[in-house]
Amino acid sequence: MIGRSITRLEGHAKVTGKARYAADNNLARVLHAVLVGAPIANGRVLSIDTEAAQRVRGVVRVLTHSDMPRFGAVSFPSAILKLPMQDDVIRHEGTPVAIVLAESLESAEEGAGAVVVRARSESPLVPRDSAGETPVRMGFGEDLNRGDVPGALQRAAHRVEQRFIQPARHHNPMEPSATVAEWFGDTLFLYDSVQAGFNLPPVMAAVFGIDAKNVRVIAPHTGGGFGCKGWVWPHEILAAAAARVAGRPVKLVLTRAQMYANVGYQPLVRQDIALGCDAEGKLAALRHDVVNTTSIVETWTEAATEISRGLYAVPALQLTQRVERVHANLPTAMRAPAEGPGSWALESAMDELALLLRMDPLDLRLANYAQTDPVHGKPWSSNKLREAYAEGARLFGWRERGQLPRHDGPWRIGFGMAACTMTTFRHPAAARVRLQDDGGAVVEAGTHDIGTGTTTILPQICADTLGIDVARVSIQHGDTTLPDAGPVYGSSATMGVGSAVMLAARDALAKVARLAREPVETLDFAAAMRRIGVAEIVGDGRFALPGNASFNADGAGTPDAMRTWGAVFLEVGVDPDLGLVRLRRAVGSYSAGRIVNPLTARSQITGGIIWEWGKATMEQSLQEPRHGRWLAKNLSNVAIPVNADIPAAITVHFVEEHDEHASPLGAKGIGELGATGVAAAVANAVFDAVGIRVRELPILPSKLI
Ligand code: MOS
Repeated sequence: MIGRSITRLEGHAKVTGKARYAADNNLARVLHAVLVGAPIANGRVLSIDTEAAQRVRGVVRVLTHSDMPRFGAVSFPSAILKLPMQDDVIRHEGTPVAIVLAESLESAEEGAGAVVVRARSESPLVPRDSAGETPVRMGFGEDLNRGDVPGALQRAAHRVEQRFIQPARHHNPMEPSATVAEWFGDTLFLYDSVQAGFNLPPVMAAVFGIDAKNVRVIAPHTGGGFGCKGWVWPHEILAAAAARVAGRPVKLVLTRAQMYANVGYQPLVRQDIALGCDAEGKLAALRHDVVNTTSIVETWTEAATEISRGLYAVPALQLTQRVERVHANLPTAMRAPAEGPGSWALESAMDELALLLRMDPLDLRLANYAQTDPVHGKPWSSNKLREAYAEGARLFGWRERGQLPRHDGPWRIGFGMAACTMTTFRHPAAARVRLQDDGGAVVEAGTHDIGTGTTTILPQICADTLGIDVARVSIQHGDTTLPDAGPVYGSSATMGVGSAVMLAARDALAKVARLAREPVETLDFAAAMRRIGVAEIVGDGRFALPGNASFNADGAGTPDAMRTWGAVFLEVGVDPDLGLVRLRRAVGSYSAGRIVNPLTARSQITGGIIWEWGKATMEQSLQEPRHGRWLAKNLSNVAIPVNADIPAAITVHFVEEHDEHASPLGAKGIGELGATGVAAAVANAVFDAVGIRVRELPILPSKLI
């Protein structure tokens, strides 16, 4: 069953409207909550007049910072440590200053519109190209200084020194964040749109002074997240607090515009890259200095330097990460954090270096292939990047591109490529498998399906291990009363919970074999269970990390270094009169461990390529410089790719691989890998087409005419 392209098992429920998302839970006596956001980016609340709002028919209560209960101190996985509505300070536009609770959504919205907030405004800090400050370290994105970088750059036969910029961008999942909270005494139920339900109990326990065991999160389906539903955001806490104060269940659904103030986004990232190489293209030095914007009090480090620690064999390395504080909400992980921005800069610079060398950019990459982890010298857990290059180039016809036409009507055609790579993040996970004496099985894992196919591949893995058809396996998921299957972020779910399911199925088989006194190898578990008269056998599986750690990046602390790899080859058309850029075809070729379901895996990568096409050519969230507000907060004026932007010809290829060092299943992560390299490949192809090097995303028509 592993390796088969099985269509999504939950797909029918989703397209027929049967799948129940957080806001689809309509509880008896529920109150609808609508947030009122601060009208300014920096200052203080002077007064909040709620009288008119209270008079709106159906409005039950209006909460402000004056009557909101004080919360206990929170820590990670709360994204924000300084929670809103606890004082009168305004640190970004849209931060919640009041909550209107009403019998209907319409009443709550009308009430929210009637709340009058007076604030004293000071000029906000907006992006200003500062050198930044050293952030509090988060365990990755560390500075590094190894070898004589200035000397090696000076002695280099060829050198590229450039600045690459990408603007802030928002996740914009289809389903906005939503929380339905209900209290039963000191027990809290949350129906929530999340990527990691198990992140909520410890945070809610700290906020409300209750036992984490009394917090239950139910979240089977999540309509996309891309990182903005990973950690716990204030609206989830505010919904629970409002429900506690009101003594009734509360439903809070963020509007699209409120998603721009209440959850994170990818920050503005400025990167200075210096590359030096010898006459053959062998890299001698790499300097990579990164500054990203973050909020006034909290720190998100967009660790773009991570790619420079892993992709190429470079003797001299100098890496710095800095943050610049602005009056905006806190940025967060967004598909693909770190290497998404990092690959934009490094893989653009590599293309510039290849041009100086008059070398095929693919040959430059091959000449600098890292046999081992460049920083620690450890062997890779698996790395078939060279196979991925070769197979991708063959599928694209890269080496023969010189014979392809360079014009098509008004379009000038260009070809570009880039390497792809992503950190391997691992999280522990647990799962249970129940074997039934009729030959069926049930998988139990508290994971979520955020649209990636998790609830299809887990039954597949279970069926494969048991030697039965996937149709005989059902799944229970999306509930914190089930085994803690870890988060669905960091491209870590297949590795973690997939391995846990495999181990749980093996454990169950071993138990049947022991009871039936039969070898596992020849066991028919259903027949054996019937013979010994046992209706159900429960197996447990756990994917644990070395030292029982709760998180592991790049195989740190293990004998192996871990990453995923790939290459993307693109053909673009540029209309030099109009400045339009069109994707004509793409080939992505990846070395990413064992592929459980080629169909869902291909969908992930295709989505990642399109995701970065948007980053390359259209997406940008700009802060208005005087008031510090996001200029656009609704999809009506936020450009993202639509079907018409994407040609049918996206080819995704996986190199045959099995990485038993990364996980017992042999899998690694793919969800974010597809969203690396592409923006650089686009810029490289645009240069190939019209000779214009764009170093600031997005590549808008105005930059090409
Ligand atoms: Mo992803 S940014 O790990 O949801």
